[in-house]
Amino acid sequence: MANVIITGAGRGIGLELARTHAERGDRVFALVRDTAKSEDLTALADGSNGAVSVHKLDAADLAGIPAAAAAVPCDSVDVLYNVAGVTGPISGELEGDTDWDAWDLAIDVMLKAPFAITKAFLPKMGEGSKVINFSSQLAASTWPYGGFYVYVATKAGLVALTRSMAIDLKDRGISLISLHPGWVKTDMGGPDADITTEESVAGITALTDRLTVEDSGGFFKWNGEPHPL
Ligand SMILES: NC(=O)c1ccc[n+]([C@@H]2O[C@H](COP(=O)([O-])OP(=O)(O)OC[C@H]3O[C@@H](n4cnc5c(N)ncnc54)[C@H](OP(=O)(O)O)[C@@H]3O)[C@@H](O)[C@H]2O)c1
Repeated sequence: MANVIITGAGRGIGLELARTHAERGDRVFALVRDTAKSEDLTALADGSNGAVSVHKLDAADLAGIPAAAAAVPCDSVDVLYNVAGVTGPISGELEGDTDWDAWDLAIDVMLKAPFAITKAFLPKMGEGSKVINFSSQLAASTWPYGGFYVYVATKAGLVALTRSMAIDLKDRGISLISLHPGWVKTDMGGPDADITTEESVAGITALTDRLTVEDSGGFFKWNGEPHPL
């Protein structure tokens, strides 16, 4: 049984990760910014015989992250999934106004928060612990489209941040990777996306299972293949 921490666990890929790890017999600590918002997560926790618990962590509240992490009742962390994400402005920013508040929110939630959350849980991590940071194919040089400026910038920054942290944590046996979860049918991915949350999470959990420090710092696809940078 692994202790698994998931941010953004109320819907989308985060919720499916919570379901899948609970089915596997793991202890799931589901972190959400509003503990009453997700009926699906509440139902999962209520029916889990204590295997899934729900805790408040707002990834945009950087100052509150240490206290929120300290309130999560686990002695050790085997896997931390930094899933929470926002899309940010999509297009039209070169011609129109720049929504700096939206930029700040995206940078806080998808770049600063994965750093702050990982840092907050580090005292509970050790040999064999794994951190999976949710980046995107939009972070790679192979992505052929424009737009999504702050999203691509934060997701590319997260790949570099993960690589740098991985170097510093390798001696402690802690593995960190960044991940493209696939184009997934969620609120963010939309209904025309390539794969379901179940397909994405089946690949992600298989990849997480086989991760070692030798993989640490890498950027991977949900199916376990290395992602081009
Ligand atoms: N879906 C795709 O095709 C795709 C592709 C590449 C990468 N990704 C990445 O994969 C991750 C999950 O995506 P998804 O498709 O599952 O997204 P989603 O369905 O839009 O869900 C986003 C999740 O992030 C949470 N969140 C947003 N702001 C937060 C905050 N301030 N504090 C805590 N949680 C917050 C949301 O919580 P609330 O319910 O409270 O809003 C929600 O649980 C994201 O990082 C995304 O960028 C997704």
